[in-house]
Amino acid sequence: MQGRFITVEGIEGVGKTTNMELLRTTLTARGISVLSTREPGGTPLGEAVRGLLLSHEFAGMHEDSELLLMFAARAEHLNRVIRPALANGQWVLCDRFTDATYAYQGGGRGIATRRIAELEQWVQGDLRPDLVIVLDIEPAQGLARAKGRSEADRFESETLAFFERTRAAYLDRARQYPERYRVIDAGRPLAEVQEILRRTLEDFLA
Ligand code: TMP
Repeated sequence: MQGRFITVEGIEGVGKTTNMELLRTTLTARGISVLSTREPGGTPLGEAVRGLLLSHEFAGMHEDSELLLMFAARAEHLNRVIRPALANGQWVLCDRFTDATYAYQGGGRGIATRRIAELEQWVQGDLRPDLVIVLDIEPAQGLARAKGRSEADRFESETLAFFERTRAAYLDRARQYPERYRVIDAGRPLAEVQEILRRTLEDFLA
């Protein structure tokens, strides 16, 4: 049987790493074989592209180049890792996927949704995540949390206004496709977020 595809999204500082781990252990405890991966990245080529995208060396990168690099890494990831795993019955848990492109390159950078949708169709065909968990937080709160974790990369150095547009684009997509998206308020204390996350996953499994 084909595995299921779950992605976790949100702006910087929402607590993706901790919550991804909770999802992974909950699924594993249910006897489900889970492949945990991330974007941009997830393959040697994808990780190299990630280095280019996050580095300050290319601070002035054109937004079209940024968009195409995201999809180049995604094509490799899908064809080499995600599709084979799903076909093998494994569940795939991915830290960010194409919703991040709609949010960051679409909302943040202002690239037309239609362009992103064309690339999405080209690279993915009909493949879409079965469940998208959007961890939502006020950008000022998220950025304050993310600050000081490590040196800010090229995206983390963006303005508050950029993250407000990014967040709005995530929420917009969640409103547009309510059957596939679950928005969780990640500004609450971690224990509460994790309780909601557990329930969300139980609903999905049911
Ligand atoms: P992260 O792994 O720390 O979340 O960093 C990845 C960065 O890449 C993050 O700032 C969001 C950004 N990103 C995009 O802009 N578009 C995308 O499609 C993806 C997958 C990530």
